[in-house]
Amino acid sequence: MSFRTHTVTDYVEDVSPGSGALPPRAWYASSDAPSLSLNGNWRLRLSPTADAEDDSFAAPGYDAGAWARIQVPGHWGLQGHGSPIYTNHLYPFPVDPPRVPTENPTGDHLRVFELPEVWPDLAEGGAVLRFDGVESCARVWLNGTELGEFKGSRLPHEFAVGQLLKRTGNVLAVRVHQWSAGSYLEDQDQWWLPGIFRDVTLLHRPAGAALDFFVHASYDHLAGAGTLRVDSDVAGRVTVAGLGIDIATGESVTVPVEPWSAETPTLYDGELTTEGERVPLRIGFRTVELSDGLIKVNGRPVLFKGVNRHEWHPERGRALDLATMREDVLLMKRHNINAVRTSHYPPHPAFLDLCDEFGLWVIDECDLETHGFTEQGWRDNPVDDDRWTPALLDRASRMVERDKNHPSVVIWSLGNEAGTGRGLTAMARWIKGRDSSRLVHYEGDPTCRDTDMYSRMYADHAEVERIGRELDGGSLKRRRLPFVLCEFAHAMGNGPGGLADYQRLFESYGRLQGAFVWEWIDHGIAHPGLGFAYGGDFGEELHDGNFVCDGLLFPDRRPSPGLVEYKKVIEPVGIGGDAGDGTVRITNKQDFAGLSALAFSWAYEVDGEPVETGVLSVPALAAGESADVKLPPPPAGGPAGEARWTVRAVLATDTAWAPKDHVVAWGQVPVSEPRVPTVAATARPAAGDDGVITLGPGVFDARTGALTAVGDVPVSGLRLDVWRATTDNDDGAPWQPDLRYGLLWRRLGLHRMRHRLDAVETGEHTLTVRTRVAPAARELGLATVYRWTSDGERLRLTVSTVPEGDWTVPLPRLGIRLALAAADGVRWFGGGPGEAYADTRAASAVGRWQSTVDELQTPYVRPQENGARIDVRWAELGGLRIEGDPVFSLTARRWTTEQLDAATHLTDLVPADSTVWVNLDHAQHGIGSQSCGPGPLPRYRLQAEPAEFSFVFSVRPGGSA
Ligand code: GAL
Repeated sequence: MSFRTHTVTDYVEDVSPGSGALPPRAWYASSDAPSLSLNGNWRLRLSPTADAEDDSFAAPGYDAGAWARIQVPGHWGLQGHGSPIYTNHLYPFPVDPPRVPTENPTGDHLRVFELPEVWPDLAEGGAVLRFDGVESCARVWLNGTELGEFKGSRLPHEFAVGQLLKRTGNVLAVRVHQWSAGSYLEDQDQWWLPGIFRDVTLLHRPAGAALDFFVHASYDHLAGAGTLRVDSDVAGRVTVAGLGIDIATGESVTVPVEPWSAETPTLYDGELTTEGERVPLRIGFRTVELSDGLIKVNGRPVLFKGVNRHEWHPERGRALDLATMREDVLLMKRHNINAVRTSHYPPHPAFLDLCDEFGLWVIDECDLETHGFTEQGWRDNPVDDDRWTPALLDRASRMVERDKNHPSVVIWSLGNEAGTGRGLTAMARWIKGRDSSRLVHYEGDPTCRDTDMYSRMYADHAEVERIGRELDGGSLKRRRLPFVLCEFAHAMGNGPGGLADYQRLFESYGRLQGAFVWEWIDHGIAHPGLGFAYGGDFGEELHDGNFVCDGLLFPDRRPSPGLVEYKKVIEPVGIGGDAGDGTVRITNKQDFAGLSALAFSWAYEVDGEPVETGVLSVPALAAGESADVKLPPPPAGGPAGEARWTVRAVLATDTAWAPKDHVVAWGQVPVSEPRVPTVAATARPAAGDDGVITLGPGVFDARTGALTAVGDVPVSGLRLDVWRATTDNDDGAPWQPDLRYGLLWRRLGLHRMRHRLDAVETGEHTLTVRTRVAPAARELGLATVYRWTSDGERLRLTVSTVPEGDWTVPLPRLGIRLALAAADGVRWFGGGPGEAYADTRAASAVGRWQSTVDELQTPYVRPQENGARIDVRWAELGGLRIEGDPVFSLTARRWTTEQLDAATHLTDLVPADSTVWVNLDHAQHGIGSQSCGPGPLPRYRLQAEPAEFSFVFSVRPGGSA
């Protein structure tokens, strides 16, 4: 008796990569062989199981008129059929490899097509049907004939179909299963989204067409010469007009060339001509090597300023169009990013064309992750089980063969978080054998058995520094290798903090060759009721919430403050110094290029307003060089006030990725200190008979000492505030062993502090209110005194707090909050224009800024503390002018911190009325990156210590609105 019936769907659970497909080869667009895109409108029938119905639908003549319609490329789960599932590393099905659940959503896709007029005679040459990406397993028929089946979702698969084609009425049928044995190899941290999500193309293959070819284009930096050889399965000639090259395939030639690098992406247009076809080539000459323990390109060590990029679009998921890919590349270039790890699978091939063209170093990663096996101590891990090795090798070869002709690809990555095992070694060996011109990366094996670099993720600053100093130990092999942080700076919610501190390390130790922020974009799904949806919003049984929203871009590709900060931290030019000696230090931090693409300017600013501006002439500095450049003498007779130099480096001319005047780098050199507001304490508190005390413009409730107005501007709820709506980094990841302050704060009750009134005292020139601020059930608290004075026009508040009891945690924030009846426009002199915190403040420039209350909000997909502007000298909003002594951090929003804290999606944030809640903070706790990495460095913790700080309030000239 058999317990398991063999069915026609056995291939779904077969560990083999598939059958029937052609061997992998380079991806290219022919100059003359026609092709037909089969993207567009298809028919879809979704079934709950893999074998729901027979395969008769694939036969010509089948009537699919009643089926739904679906856009290909696309995911059915984003087109109203079924729904997405988000898990980080847990398999959303029982782990019993290679078996998958009986409930296996299966989409039958059907499309009828005609050949275009230009299509040659069917007897001439053949044709190939190419799928660029189908998740997770597909079985294909053309005109009723089965072509085969395949797995490997983000890899191309081609079938020879010439003999089956007809001029009209071709029926292409594709059965796509959500789950397959391949799903065990694709446990990446992202939405599970089945479908034909990349292009489907029919390619004519003329007789004598080029089949596969390998462009070898190296660069000898000593000779300034490039060597070109194109190996081709079908012999032909290779021409590069710009270099006067005309050689046979297989033949080498060496000529003087400009090399390719991410900074100077010189490409030479060439052509491969075989008897049956012409193929355009875009050749970049460059040599990648491991030498002296360093990753070198063209003889020089490189520093990766990278990001991890998943493919994502909030409506179309991983079905990206060319415009979106281009937008990603332009955004990267405009934010000084020079490297991409294609986490965790080869991207759409057109993305790599863009990287070649615009200049980005690429770590091309294989479509492989088996992270869920960590739950069982990596038992049964497919990468350590020979039965799976053919599937792994298939994946490695499909990646390498497809992408081998891209100069931007400098490193192959075996995959992500797949433990260790012989399968990985087999992949690395195969890759090295096929392509010795690139290096191999894999993070998951601390012995570095199969790799050319030591790679880690989320190591803290101290560990990175130890590695930089070569004090980290490890195997002999590892100690000789360069280091990359393939993931760091988890960009979930507000943050990441500590970027500048990492970058200082990378720039200090040669062995540290840079890092890749996790990650590029939030994978939020556009949702009518929620703004952007995340894990759990589709009723998933298992999910990881908003851990899927951890990018430098919001889902709609608006840059987050994290990206603005990263841009500043990784500037290719360092600008800084001390105005004491009248110079500014300019450092060319690039690896190859000089500064000729940039124009430098200076501005001399007083109280944030430019007084004089001019051109700064900077000597030609080669990569790595610095100079102290003389600033002009400060303008004579200008206004008095706080002065500083702002120096900018902008694009001197339009480039392919940004227009002339785009700011690439900047720095500020302070000349004088912020001016401290002074208020002579001359006014006397006066008690009215209506229960009111007045002091200058201040109106107070005599019983409680509460401020009720400044002049004619009503104010309410002014009191000490230590709470912030915890950020994802405050809350930390569940597995974090370290202190997770978000939880500790809540456990202590810092989100529900009580304010006990101890005394309201009037002195000759002061009104003093004594309080104790503390949570229920705890002995700890903050003895807090508010002392008010005035000169009759302006009202000064000095807040003193003294911690009492056993404070073992830092404070989330320390300052006051108050409510204004209404406010809209906001002007300030201080840090801006964007949000900044103690360890995310590199991009905050001191100046005059203006905004609105609504624009001050940063739309983190899961609402949390956001929008603070730091180093504020003064601010005006809601009819008030507020000056700080010392400078303060400003937040203004149309909801309370408690509402912000309770919100789970942006759509939960609805103003109740016109009230604006304002926080004036003496300080806030740092941000860090503990949603996956380390928390804030100790110096950014806001320790509970005695503190005193002041604000001066006055009615803004011009009224109360
Ligand atoms: C890493 C993993 C990424 C992502 C990240 C956290 O461990 O490689 O895919 O899960 O953590 O967002």
